[in-house]
Formats: sequence, C-alpha cells, structure tokens
Amino acid sequence: MKVAVLGAAGGIGQPLSMILKNNLPAGSKLSLYDVAPFTPGVATDLSHIPTDVAVDGYTGDDLTKALEGANVVVIPAGVARKPGMTRDDLFNINASIIANLVRNCAKTCPKACICIITNPVNSTVPLAAEVLKAEGVYDKHRLFGVSALDVLRSETFLAQELGISEKRILVPVIGGHSGTTIIPLLSKVIGSEKISSKRISELTTRIQNAGTEVVEAKAGAGSATLSMATAGARFALKVVAGLMGEPGVNEYCYVEGGSKHAQYFAQNVIFGKTGWKKVCDYGKVSSFEKKLIEEAIPELQKNIDKGVSFAKDWLSKN
Ligand code: LMR
Repeated sequence: MKVAVLGAAGGIGQPLSMILKNNLPAGSKLSLYDVAPFTPGVATDLSHIPTDVAVDGYTGDDLTKALEGANVVVIPAGVARKPGMTRDDLFNINASIIANLVRNCAKTCPKACICIITNPVNSTVPLAAEVLKAEGVYDKHRLFGVSALDVLRSETFLAQELGISEKRILVPVIGGHSGTTIIPLLSKVIGSEKISSKRISELTTRIQNAGTEVVEAKAGAGSATLSMATAGARFALKVVAGLMGEPGVNEYCYVEGGSKHAQYFAQNVIFGKTGWKKVCDYGKVSSFEKKLIEEAIPELQKNIDKGVSFAKDWLSKN
C-alpha cells in the first residue's frame, strides 16, 4: 500500500505523516510531498523510526515520483485560518492549490483514493470532483472530504459531559465541515437523554465552533494541526484497511453519496477494496437535529456551488 501526503511538511502534514509512519501496515510506502524544500529532510527524520514502512520525500514542481503507484493520497496542503476568518475565507488561495494537486493525482494515480483535509472542505471536494471529471477519471467512491475531526471533538466533549471515557463513545456527525453545516447527532448517544436540551444546544454550538476555538487559542499562529493530523490519519488508516479487504470498517466523511439533502454530504460510509462501498442511513433524529439539518442545507449548497463554479472557471483557463 502506498500513501502519499501532499502538504507533508506543514503543521498538519508532519504529525499526520508521523502517525502514518507508526501505524501503516508493514510493507507500506509513505510518500511525502510539499513545496517546502526541506520535505526530503522530513522524510529522513521519519525514516529513523523503526517501523516496516518505507518513507520518501519530494519537493519541486513535478509530483510524478511522489504520486506514482499511490493507493491513497491525503491532502492537508494550503493555508490556515487566522482569528476572525471563516473557512470560506480560505477559498481564494486554497482552491487553486487543490485544483492543481488533484489534476496531478488524476494524471499519475487516477485510481487513488483522495482524502481532502484542505479547507473549505465543503467546497474543495466538489471542486476536486469537477477536476477529476474533466480528466475522465472521477469515481465518487474514491473521493473524500475529511470531516472526522468533528467526530473526534464530539466524542471528547460528550464524554466529558457524561463523565465517561472518550474511548467508549461514538458520535455521528453529518452535514459538512464548517460552522452550522456540522451537525452532531448527540441524541444517538446512549446517556445523552440525561442531558438537558439547553446543554445539548450549547454542546452542539461548541462542536460547530471547535475549529474557531483552536484558531482563537492559537492567536494568529494557525488552526488545529495535532487533532486534525490525528483525525486525518485515523481516516486514512481506515481507507487503507478497507482497500486491504478488512470488513466492516466505517467512518463519517464528506462524499457524493446520494444523500437526500445535498449532492455532497458528510455521512457514515463503509469502506471496501475500491473506496467507500456503502452509505449508512443516519436513521431517526431529534426535532432539534432535524431543524439543524434544514438550516444547514442552504449554506452547504452555497459552498458546493462555489467549488463547482470555481472548477469550471479554472478548467477553462488551465
Ligand atoms: C478545524 O476544524 O479545526 C479545521 O477545519 C481548521 C479550521 O480552520 O477550523
């Protein structure tokens, strides 16, 4: 199994690559790419960790060597928020970065599963789909927006609220990966019925604003890197497990998965040997959650349209 990380020398890329080096199955290859010239040095650093995972680092304009034979590509490349910015404010810079990287994937590893971390995920995923379509290689089962950090945060905050171990909790989070489009289904968690509706509403708001909580706490030095790296690695390792034929591996992620709400929607998918193979219905939700879904859709749709229309314009010029 070869996993390529694009943006591997950055704040998310480095810890993400380290977790992958320590946890990929024996015999895997880890390929690091970044525009930062010291990227081969990051690979040298990681190569001293004694695991049976070979690691190479690449920089420069040509991504061919980094991507050749990749089964999974994880993309945290791009710029991060500063206080006062929304994820959407990153669009103008990150959109062309994603368009370029994804076109390279289409040309060199057209069958790879592409996992996008770069914000705004609600828009960069539809944008990537359009670029892959234009290259004639789009397969919706192989393109993912990484929204697993919303799940991790929900698990942490809810476990703290209930006074139980984070390890014993699993919170579904659907919708998208930005503000009110992040919809945690807290009612699905056993024990949540003991929490007042006021507290449920407060916890929901905290989960939706958790990215901003980190951006403000870092005070201009960026956004979540360590927790995002953990979420990205957990996600990529599940994709790898599915590709290797492990049964029943699942995770919430933002995909074009036939949702009745929007063309792209974060939902629980089961992974298989060729990407995600099944979307799981989220079932019954509370009236509070139903309202959250209804309110999120116009914003999510706007984000999707923005990605698609950027891609059309970019493709006409590049
Ligand atoms: C997060 O959720 O922490 C990331 O999407 C980064 C951000 O800008 O919030």
